[in-house]
Amino acid sequence: MMSYSAWWLFALAASAVSANDCSQDYDIISQDGINDISQCARMSGNIRVASTNLTTLHLPNLTVLRGDLFIKDNDYLKSVELPRLLRLNGALALFKNGVLETLDTPALTYLRSLEAVDNPQLKNVGFPAELRDIDLLRLVGSRVIKLGGIKPQGVGSIEIVDNPEMDTISFNHLVKVHSSLRIANNHETCSLHLPSLTNIGRGLELAHLRIVKAPRLESVGGGVHVHDNWFEEIELDDLTEVEESVRLHNNSQLRVFSLRALERVGGSLVVYNNTQLESIADLDELETVNGDINIRGSFRTLSMLQLEQTAGRIIIKSTERLDCKDIKKNLAIKPASDKWVCQEEVDRNEVIALAESDQSGGKNGAVQPTPGWSMGIALGVTGLMSIVQFLF
Ligand SMILES: *[C@@H]1O[C@H](CO)[C@@H](O)[C@H](O)[C@H]1NC(C)=O
Ligand SMILES: *[C@@H]1O[C@H](CO)[C@@H](O)[C@H](O)[C@H]1NC(C)=O
Ligand SMILES: *[C@@H]1O[C@H](CO)[C@@H](O)[C@H](O)[C@H]1NC(C)=O
Ligand SMILES: *[C@@H]1O[C@H](CO)[C@@H](O)[C@H](O)[C@H]1NC(C)=O
Repeated sequence: MMSYSAWWLFALAASAVSANDCSQDYDIISQDGINDISQCARMSGNIRVASTNLTTLHLPNLTVLRGDLFIKDNDYLKSVELPRLLRLNGALALFKNGVLETLDTPALTYLRSLEAVDNPQLKNVGFPAELRDIDLLRLVGSRVIKLGGIKPQGVGSIEIVDNPEMDTISFNHLVKVHSSLRIANNHETCSLHLPSLTNIGRGLELAHLRIVKAPRLESVGGGVHVHDNWFEEIELDDLTEVEESVRLHNNSQLRVFSLRALERVGGSLVVYNNTQLESIADLDELETVNGDINIRGSFRTLSMLQLEQTAGRIIIKSTERLDCKDIKKNLAIKPASDKWVCQEEVDRNEVIALAESDQSGGKNGAVQPTPGWSMGIALGVTGLMSIVQFLF
């Protein structure tokens, strides 16, 4: 026998299922397909719009989508308009839509992931209602100048790469990136502002940037890879722990780098081919490096007073005068002679490239391709998996 309250709940649930609730997967191939779902307000299922001749995808009544919205290879599609969409509990994927300019989501506040890849004309993407939560943000190959309205405190992973007009990236509220953060190859004046960020769960890659501000960053659970940037200085003076290697190279304007709080590096610490580098702020908190220390540049002093443990070699080379005896004397450890190389007034060639023998090395070796980034890819792939399953 059904109690009164249970009956009441049952009636409520039944009445909530109306003609505006649609639950199935939709594969849209033409305007007719859009007309079929344009009355839907709440949808459970995936919507796939691939290889159509549509110029506009307009879903006026959609407010909640529990599923993925997958939009790929639409050669004429100029805009995606979702004026009432509040929540998208799935992936919003935009792949290879050659003329797509606008993604209009004025009401959206929750989105599990946004992956926009190879939409070379895409320039209008914004979230005026403000996203508070997002697991994966990938913007690759677009014309977006600025990303507005993304204000979560935590994000799974972020990749913003190959957007030739992107010139400011700011995540003012972001405190944690649970997986990887990768910013590379955007506009040559691109600046990155992460005023609240304290932790990154996996790798960090920063490339082709003019300004980087991450003054509160404390720990990185993967590697830190900073290369081919145009800034003159980088200060990560709260950074204490890096799980894998720290690599800093090809930064043609870099004069000063400062990692004053750095205590532990789980891999190697490698610095080379920063041809203007003239000063390395003291690494006096550095206690442990579980790989090589290989620092090359045009500096006159280098201090590592607390260094207690290093699993690899210590290689220090400068084109300037350098007091190697003094540096060695001030180390807290006494490195074995086959693990200690310190040379002053070396040839320029020796500071712009690593020796062949320094290139090898396993987990803790000197060179690893984009440390820690693999997890970001894995996460991206997980996002894609659901889409791929749906496709085939
Ligand atoms: C959208 O919803 C309103 C009422 O909620 C309805 O009157 C209208 O016909 C719907 N639009 C479409 C295109 O179905
Ligand atoms: C797109 O347009 C072309 C040329 O008008 C036509 O051949 C093709 O069948 C159309 N594709 C779809 C999915 O309607
Ligand atoms: C450093 O610059 C050289 C020459 O331009 C390039 O081949 C190399 O890939 C760069 N390193 C990285 C990690 O970008
Ligand atoms: C050093 O970095 C610059 C970019 O800053 C690059 O153009 C150059 O090719 C690099 N040199 C080597 C030997 O990788």
